[in-house]
Amino acid sequence: MNINLGGKEVRLNSNSMIVTETDAKGNITFASKDFCKIAGYSKEELIGKSHNCVRNSFMPKDAFKDLWNTVKSGNRWSGTVVNSTKDGGYYWVKATVYPSQNKDGSTKYISVRVMPTQKEIDMAISLYPTMV
Ligand SMILES: Cc1cc2nc3c(=O)[nH]c(=O)nc-3n(C[C@H](O)[C@H](O)[C@H](O)COP(=O)(O)O)c2cc1C
Repeated sequence: MNINLGGKEVRLNSNSMIVTETDAKGNITFASKDFCKIAGYSKEELIGKSHNCVRNSFMPKDAFKDLWNTVKSGNRWSGTVVNSTKDGGYYWVKATVYPSQNKDGSTKYISVRVMPTQKEIDMAISLYPTMV
């Protein structure tokens, strides 16, 4: 299958752990060093931005609808995601997103991403083009 995910692929390694946190609306409130390094942004550029700033157009809208429905109802969402880097490249992750609370009781969301298996990437490449 001929797919175009962007320019250069950035590969995670088995030690990579990319963490971000957002407020209840999905605006980034925390980004780990690995996230900045892999996505190509400085912390200052990311804080306050909507998390869709790394969205890759290969990802179906329904994947994120499912993500939001899941975490808003208090559950943990897991899935294979491809994101774009600042310079137009891309990187695959296995993401787990879950709700948590700030000290003041308000909702926040946390995403932890690790290196996906090749099988997970292949599954996403064949499944996502069939989704909306
Ligand atoms: C904690 C958290 C992490 C997220 N991480 C990503 C991500 O890495 N890439 C991405 O495209 N969307 C991510 N999203 C979903 C975005 O908020 C957004 O819904 C998605 O990019 C689709 O954009 P849209 O809602 O403007 O259509 C995340 C959301 C949350 C709550």
